[in-house]
Amino acid sequence: MTLGGLDPAISTAENYRGFAREARGRSPAYDSLATLVAGDDSILRFLATLPAPKRQPNLLFAAARYLLGTPPEITTLRALVRENPAALARVMLARRTQTNEPARCATLLPALAQLPAPLALIEVGASAGLTLLFDRYSYDYAGHHIAGSDPDAPTLRCAPRGPVPLPARLPVIAWRAGLDLNPLDVTDDDDVRWLSCLVWPGEDDRQERLAAAVASARRDPPAVHRGDLLTHLPALAAQAPPGATLVIFHSAVLPYVAPDDRGPFIDTVRGLPGVWLSNEAPGVVPGISVPACPGGPFLLIRDGDTPLAYTDGHGAWVRWLAG
Ligand SMILES: C[S@@+](CC[C@H](N)C(=O)[O-])C[C@H]1O[C@@H](n2cnc3c(N)ncnc32)[C@H](O)[C@@H]1O
Repeated sequence: MTLGGLDPAISTAENYRGFAREARGRSPAYDSLATLVAGDDSILRFLATLPAPKRQPNLLFAAARYLLGTPPEITTLRALVRENPAALARVMLARRTQTNEPARCATLLPALAQLPAPLALIEVGASAGLTLLFDRYSYDYAGHHIAGSDPDAPTLRCAPRGPVPLPARLPVIAWRAGLDLNPLDVTDDDDVRWLSCLVWPGEDDRQERLAAAVASARRDPPAVHRGDLLTHLPALAAQAPPGATLVIFHSAVLPYVAPDDRGPFIDTVRGLPGVWLSNEAPGVVPGISVPACPGGPFLLIRDGDTPLAYTDGHGAWVRWLAG
């Protein structure tokens, strides 16, 4: 998954066609809707009234779902654009694509479990903080089970491919903190509704997982601080307790950071006394050469120079690369 629909170098219609390809096989409803939007003059005209970063398919579809109470179809979306463009624009301007997928924990856990515990975790671009709660979830790696601390939290099912170093137990996490431009609050019903609107129709397992992860997070909410990964990371890292391995990680975040700003962020992370795990589309962190992997997944990289694994964007599988 490449977070299609965000490329400023191509037209809005082309971005919608790219998103349709990304949704193919995962959400037939959004595959078809994005294809139809790419050829719909009235919706494209509406999108042209918004700033370029706000024209994203995922944002339009989630905002329409938020207002309609049900996933949009081409007829309901056209009607919304025609009859209530101001309300639709208001939601799209106020909200962001902040999909928080707890199952990504299952693809990062093998890398985390190799580090000396206890761990101090910082997630940049943490959204609601659901991907900070590694030790709360249980895991099922094709029959290899690991029990989490909250029996009512979801069990994350992830297919291991290649020599994945599956841990016997969860690492001890001494401290954790998220950083986000716009933290979502798991105790706020409206924020939770927005998170749910961001899940694609047809992905019912993701809705169930999200609901169970939110219920667990509500019992003991993670701290997600408001701030920019470009400027606020060193101050947050300074709060990590001594004696714990600091791990700075991110997943599905850097495409939202302007290409010219990614280099300064990488320099900042490299200057901090911690391990850096990046779980992003291939090419987002420059200078890494790996064999091609079909399916457009993420690449998990340690410290900017060691590719560890290809990972499914929604946590369904992990293909280990490192020896
Ligand atoms: C797609 S969500 C991913 C959330 C989470 N990492 C996950 O994997 O489920 C991307 C998040 O990055 C945040 N973000 C984007 N640019 C950021 C920046 N410059 N500083 C901090 N957070 C940022 C967004 O607000 C959003 O919550």
